[in-house]
Amino acid sequence: MVGAHPMTEDLDMPVDEGALLRISGLKKHFPITSGVLQRITGHVRAVEDVTLSIQSGETLALVGESGCGKSKAGRLILRLIEATSGSVTFQGRDVRSLDSRALRALRRDMQIIFQDPFSSLNPRMRVRDLIAEPIVFHKLVHGRAQVDARVDELMQIVGLSPAHRNKFPHEFSGGQRQRIGIARALAVQPKFIVCDEPISALDVSIQAQVLNLLSQL
Ligand SMILES: Nc1ncnc2c1ncn2[C@@H]1O[C@H](COP(=O)(O)OP(=O)(O)OP(=O)(O)O)[C@@H](O)[C@H]1O
Ligand SMILES: [Mg+2]
Repeated sequence: MVGAHPMTEDLDMPVDEGALLRISGLKKHFPITSGVLQRITGHVRAVEDVTLSIQSGETLALVGESGCGKSKAGRLILRLIEATSGSVTFQGRDVRSLDSRALRALRRDMQIIFQDPFSSLNPRMRVRDLIAEPIVFHKLVHGRAQVDARVDELMQIVGLSPAHRNKFPHEFSGGQRQRIGIARALAVQPKFIVCDEPISALDVSIQAQVLNLLSQL
C-alpha cells in the first residue's frame, strides 16, 4: 500500500493513494540563447503543463505530433533530465527531490525502452554483458553462474536464443536489438516502464511481434 510507505510522511503534497505514478503541472522549458529566430519567445516550451496519473497494471499512451514533447516527458518522469517546474510522484515519493542515492534505487523501479535500439546499446559490448549490466549494477544476483542463468532466462523471455549471448549488437536485426533493449529494461523487474516509440524504428512485421511481446509482459 502506497500510503504506508515511510517516505510519504515527508511529503507536503497530497498523494493519490491508488496511483503508481502521478505527474502534476510538469514543465520543461529550454532557454533560447541566440536571436536566430525572428520571434524571440525567450524559451522553448518543450513540455507544458502535463498532468496525469497511472495506476499499477495500467498502460497509458501519449499521442501527439512530432516535437510536442512526448520523449522529453518520458525523460522528465525518470529524471534523466531535470524539470523546470511541476511534480512527479512515484509510489508516493517526490521524484524531483530525491538525492542521487535514492535516485539510483528508483532507477530499479522505473525503466525506459528507447526509440532507437542501435544508439542506445553500447556497440562494443556483447549481448550477455549488455543484459547483465543492470543486474550487476543493482546487485540483483551474485556470482557469474547466477548472472549467466538470469541473462539466459531474460533472453528467452524476449524471444532471443541464449546461444547468441556472445554476439555484438550489430550482429542482430533491428527487431532483435529492440528485444535486447527490452531484456535490459526487464532485467531489474521494474514496476514502471517508459516506452519511447519502441517500435517506430522497426519493420512493420516486427512491430507486431514487439508489441505483442510488450503486452504479454
Ligand atoms: N536541448 C533542447 N533545447 C531546446 N529545445 C529542445 C531541446 N531538446 C528538445 N527540444 C524541443 O523540445 C520539443 C519536444 O521534444 P521531444 O523530443 O519531447 O518531442 P517528441 O514529442 O518526442 O517528438 P517525436 O515524435 O519527433 O519523437 C521539441 O520541439 C524540441 O525541438
Ligand atoms: Mg520522441
